[in-house]
Amino acid sequence: MVTAMARVLLESLTKRFGDVVAVDSVDLEVQDQELLVLVGPSGCGKSTMLRLIAGLEDVTSGRVTIGDRSVNSVPAKDRNIAMVFQNYALYPHMDVYRNMAFGLRMRKVPRDEIERRVRRTAEVLGIEDLFARRPAQLSGGQRQRVALGRAIVRDPEVFLLDEPLSNLDARLRVTMRSELVKLHRHLDATMIYVTHDQVEAMTMGDRLVVMRDGRIQQVDTPRAVYESPANRFVGEFIGSPPMNILDGRIAKSGNALFFVSGRLRLSIPNNLCAPCEHRVDQSVQFGIRPEDLQIRTSDETDPDCVGVSCEVAVAQLLGSDSLVELDHEGTLVMARLDGRRSYRIGEVIEVGFSMDRAHWFDAQSGRRL
Ligand SMILES: Nc1ncnc2c1ncn2[C@@H]1O[C@H](COP(=O)(O)OP(=O)(O)OP(=O)(O)O)[C@@H](O)[C@H]1O
Ligand SMILES: [Mg+2]
Repeated sequence: MVTAMARVLLESLTKRFGDVVAVDSVDLEVQDQELLVLVGPSGCGKSTMLRLIAGLEDVTSGRVTIGDRSVNSVPAKDRNIAMVFQNYALYPHMDVYRNMAFGLRMRKVPRDEIERRVRRTAEVLGIEDLFARRPAQLSGGQRQRVALGRAIVRDPEVFLLDEPLSNLDARLRVTMRSELVKLHRHLDATMIYVTHDQVEAMTMGDRLVVMRDGRIQQVDTPRAVYESPANRFVGEFIGSPPMNILDGRIAKSGNALFFVSGRLRLSIPNNLCAPCEHRVDQSVQFGIRPEDLQIRTSDETDPDCVGVSCEVAVAQLLGSDSLVELDHEGTLVMARLDGRRSYRIGEVIEVGFSMDRAHWFDAQSGRRL
């Protein structure tokens, strides 16, 4: 196997389709052997970005570099990249073995080399017993593995996976997700994995790239993206149920700062005032995740946990916890609370807001303060 560094570098990469800017001056470095996940809502440019890297689409401007080679003018077949698509169309009339061997045959790889590679790959994927079957005789997960196998036998430097699990049912998706992560370790290849599923993104990637409207919003580890979203969009997109966002303003009374939204007034502990200090009387957005709200007991001593009395509007039991919609005089927030307790609609509970977990965003730009 060639051991060239399979770094992928995108510089000011732009793709226009008429008036639509599908990818808008993207700068990104994917490290050698990294599993990078591209996530964002439908239409944000994920597939287009993969197709530009693969060479299936010409760039409008900017540059794609793979390893040390600028590949803008290198045709797709010479880029040493394998792409697995959402609709991974296997050849229906060929059995599994021939499906996997097909690409190598087209490249005139010697027959015994093909056999060696197909067998080794099939072992890794646990499909060596399926060689004689046709795609119609396989389950969804098995088909998916054959499609991956077809990419792996080519021994590419870079794998581009475009929502490869979206055709599978929820349970199988979870299994295949962890299999893919293991496979990535085993292959030591660079992988770029596209999904619009934020759970998949959080659980799989070494790093996440969050996109919106053709632009990168944030690139970081899943934990960093979750804990310090760069803007309101990322805060709401990553996490389920989404972060609560309240529009309001900062008020000052004596030396103390408050966040005021409708009839909700939250005191901001002194040690946590920094993002709001220069925003007195200005509009801001306050974000808090459902798990950062909890039932506040009378012996609560954490000074960063600020109590607010709320009425239960709706409660959904999930099992280990309950999603409870809470109403403080017309201001609604979603909380993830203890599932062992039951919640009556209309019941009044004292809710603790963990202000040390609060996110503050600029009201106009949405940027994190
Ligand atoms: N061949 C094309 N011609 C014209 N517009 C296109 C073409 N391909 C993509 N687009 C547009 O470019 C934008 C980005 O599309 P793209 O397929 O990259 O999105 P995506 O993030 O992969 O979305 P999804 O999650 O739905 O697959 C969309 O507005 C889309 O309509
Ligand atoms: Mg797509």
